[in-house]
Amino acid sequence: MKLNSLRGMQDILPEEIHIWHYIEKNARELFEIYNFREIRTPLLEQAELFLRSIGEDTDIVEKEMYVFNDKKGRKVALRPEGTASVVRAYIQNSLFNNPSPQKFYYMGPMFRYERPQKGRFRQFHQIGVESFGISTPTVEAELILMLKQFFERLNIKDLNYEINSLGCKKCRPSYRDNLFIYLNEKVANLCNDCQRRFTRNPLRVLDCKAPNCKNTLKDTPFIIDFLCDDCRMHFLSFQKELELMKIKYVVNPKIVRGLDYYTRTVFEITTTMLGAQNAVAAGGRYDDLVESFGGPKTPAAGFAIGMERVVELCKEITEIEPKRPFVYVAFAGQGMEGEAKKLVNMLRKNGFITETAYENLSLKNQLKRADKLKVEWVIIVGEEEFKKSMYKWKRMKEGTQGEARIEEILKILREGN
Ligand code: HAM
Repeated sequence: MKLNSLRGMQDILPEEIHIWHYIEKNARELFEIYNFREIRTPLLEQAELFLRSIGEDTDIVEKEMYVFNDKKGRKVALRPEGTASVVRAYIQNSLFNNPSPQKFYYMGPMFRYERPQKGRFRQFHQIGVESFGISTPTVEAELILMLKQFFERLNIKDLNYEINSLGCKKCRPSYRDNLFIYLNEKVANLCNDCQRRFTRNPLRVLDCKAPNCKNTLKDTPFIIDFLCDDCRMHFLSFQKELELMKIKYVVNPKIVRGLDYYTRTVFEITTTMLGAQNAVAAGGRYDDLVESFGGPKTPAAGFAIGMERVVELCKEITEIEPKRPFVYVAFAGQGMEGEAKKLVNMLRKNGFITETAYENLSLKNQLKRADKLKVEWVIIVGEEEFKKSMYKWKRMKEGTQGEARIEEILKILREGN
């Protein structure tokens, strides 16, 4: 039987891991400058955590969660996103007792049973941040600025910053009523899922991807026209902050996001370079979530970046040199294998990426292997040279070679020329 990985779950091979490291390194460096600190939460949580935060009637919870019973019959789920887990950790570990703001970042795999396609996987990776304790729109503006700087570091250009407001507990009900009246006339033309959503959570209907529903709903009322004074002020000040920071954005009143916990600001960063799955990052404010899980009333906001999509963009526009085995140690002659091993250990202790032959190969075959591994340097431990405490060296790319003492070789390797 041939055993392959599961559909929608991919191996990340050494050939491209350097791009992942590069992106992760930039995220860590930048986010820590903004005083975000790393948090690691479990991949497996009680299913109820996601049900109660993301929302029962969302696609993620309804059809995409990996849910199963553990050996004690408890319903558990592989995390489909990071926000709910960070909120749980924030409350469970009483992190609200620490001074505000509390800012966290995370990176790792998420799981959604979606139909796989380009840029959409069942196991995918996010780099996310969550910021707790501040209610002013300066937070969302700072998140967007940080994202912009992140993409600039990676040299990713031509991104669209789309923003919207989803209102709050006060103003959303009147929008919902209006939407309900509007949808009532169209419900017969909607898909089965939307007909069910229509009564339980009409906002979810706006999120439907079915072409017929999209077409039927093209002139729905927008929530942005129903915001209460506080939400409108918040949205306007947010935009003012973006303008002050010279960040170009568009208000897209159609953004509703596929998760129920958002209040007020939501945003998506999109690109035209990836086809249908065009969002590279998305997020927003969720001022009620901590309280709804039994924590103190705590305003919060965050975002998550889709790693696979960013990796794809980095592949297209930047040549990031993969790390290569740097030095290959070859040997020839009586007793030289042992001496070569000592040299390998010494080079590795000095921090050089070092590879060698693990079996007894002819010098010719060792050199062939070094060539295939694309090393930059070969050092040959040969009997004659060894008697004089010398080593032969070869620079593969330039084709130059010579003989030198180890101190001299180390010096050249360190200086890289
Ligand atoms: P989300 O929009 O569901 O938000 O996901 C964020 C990003 O993850 C998307 O923009 C996309 O780039 C990537 N993504 C989502 N699903 C997939 C998939 N199946 N395959 C590949 N990439 C995918 C959240 O998850 C929120 N927790 C973001 C947030 C944090 N809001 C507040 N704080």
